[in-house]
Amino acid sequence: MTDKLARLNANVKGQEAELELPVYKGTYGPDVIDVRALTKSGLLTYDPGFVSTASCQSRITFIDGDKGQLLHCGYPIEQLAEQSDFLEVSYLLLHGELPSAREKDNFIHAVTRHTLVHEQLAEILKGFYRDAHPMAVLCGLVSAMSSFYHDSLDISSAPHREKTALRLIAKMPTLAAMAYKYALGQPAMTPRNDLSYGGNFLHMMFATPCEPYKVSPTLAKAMDKIFLLHADHEQNASTSTVRMAGSSGANPFSCIAAGIAALWGPAHGGANEAVLKMLDEIGDESRIDHYIARAKDKKDPFRLMGFGHRVYKNFDPRARVMMQTCNEVLAELGIDDPQLKIAKKLEEIALRDSYFIERNLYPNVDFYSGITLKALGIPREMFTVVFAIGRTPGWISHWHEMLSEDYRISRPRQLYTGPARRDFVPLTER
Ligand code: ACO
Repeated sequence: MTDKLARLNANVKGQEAELELPVYKGTYGPDVIDVRALTKSGLLTYDPGFVSTASCQSRITFIDGDKGQLLHCGYPIEQLAEQSDFLEVSYLLLHGELPSAREKDNFIHAVTRHTLVHEQLAEILKGFYRDAHPMAVLCGLVSAMSSFYHDSLDISSAPHREKTALRLIAKMPTLAAMAYKYALGQPAMTPRNDLSYGGNFLHMMFATPCEPYKVSPTLAKAMDKIFLLHADHEQNASTSTVRMAGSSGANPFSCIAAGIAALWGPAHGGANEAVLKMLDEIGDESRIDHYIARAKDKKDPFRLMGFGHRVYKNFDPRARVMMQTCNEVLAELGIDDPQLKIAKKLEEIALRDSYFIERNLYPNVDFYSGITLKALGIPREMFTVVFAIGRTPGWISHWHEMLSEDYRISRPRQLYTGPARRDFVPLTER
């Protein structure tokens, strides 16, 4: 993997030394310096926020942030969004290759056969306040699944891991819709296995026992595309959390619950909800300039939600597909959403502004996903839940990949800046 070395001049245990570190080349992306041996020389690297750290090797997803490129197992996201579907992409992420027609049928059949959840989970649901945020409910229910599926909890067994993957991909929409119905005080709807993955989610969200929900093929496809666009994004905060939890040998349901918790924050999956709140606050095109000025003001904590990304320093390719999906959904439903007009204007102004240009701040996937989800009738507090459903195959694929190879427990070190050693002072002397 390496024929190059990086040389580091450092003071090692009181003596100047030149350390040689192997440099690895991936298929694409920056070369990676292997710093693992540094600790033997009494040195550590310092990288808060993991800005310059490759935490693992992975074959699943590649992002070229400068080009605005996203590849899943080599396939560009635009092609997958156009020609594939969420379950096929889930298979791709899990297995590394696109399925044959037969493999695809079997996978869809297997996922579809696992959509029901244990009745006892409904009892756990009742412990939540009706106004609990659905991300809190989803996190709790997924964590509770650890205590249900004892037949597939041997993490060293590939068949067990595969069964867990199917269960999680299949049951996540059911749990999400249960959380929503619970908040409304309506009975949970049984999944319908004759519907597509996206169509079934819309059915469970909007049908009631007294009134069926007619699933529009256009809207079901849009729902599927939203899931697909979120399916994986290499070592983002929630996926890294899943890997980190998994590295201790924790069971997969608790690892995914940890990922859901990490996703919830507004700097990550909570951004789509935050975008609509921001558009509400702006309220009118005439106020955009004021909010752009606030976003640029370092003394003001306000940030343009749905803008900027740790890795993309160009357009997020998912944002382009999402904008197109947004336009299709609004056209199908005949909605003329004033928030879309504000969003488009905001984007136009920000993309011409030197502050955003110099910092390479472009719209990310969340900028248009909120408006699309709103048009589909998904309430705002469910936006991040939708993201979690979409990201599930990515989380579980990374967890599976890690466990399929040699791995060590994730245990970062630190730069200690606290007090030097001192003797304990008894309470009476303080
Ligand atoms: N509005 C205004 N300024 C911004 C924004 C923004 N949305 N994003 C970054 N900046 C500025 C920062 O203030 C900083 O400026 P400086 O160099 O003058 O100090 C510079 O751009 C770099 O920003 P960082 O915060 O260092 O970038 P980082 O990679 O740590 O953060 C993040 C990335 C969290 C996504 C950030 O851009 C942000 O908060 N965006 C808004 C929230 C959002 O949309 N999150 C969704 C991310 S995508 C996803 O999870 C699907």
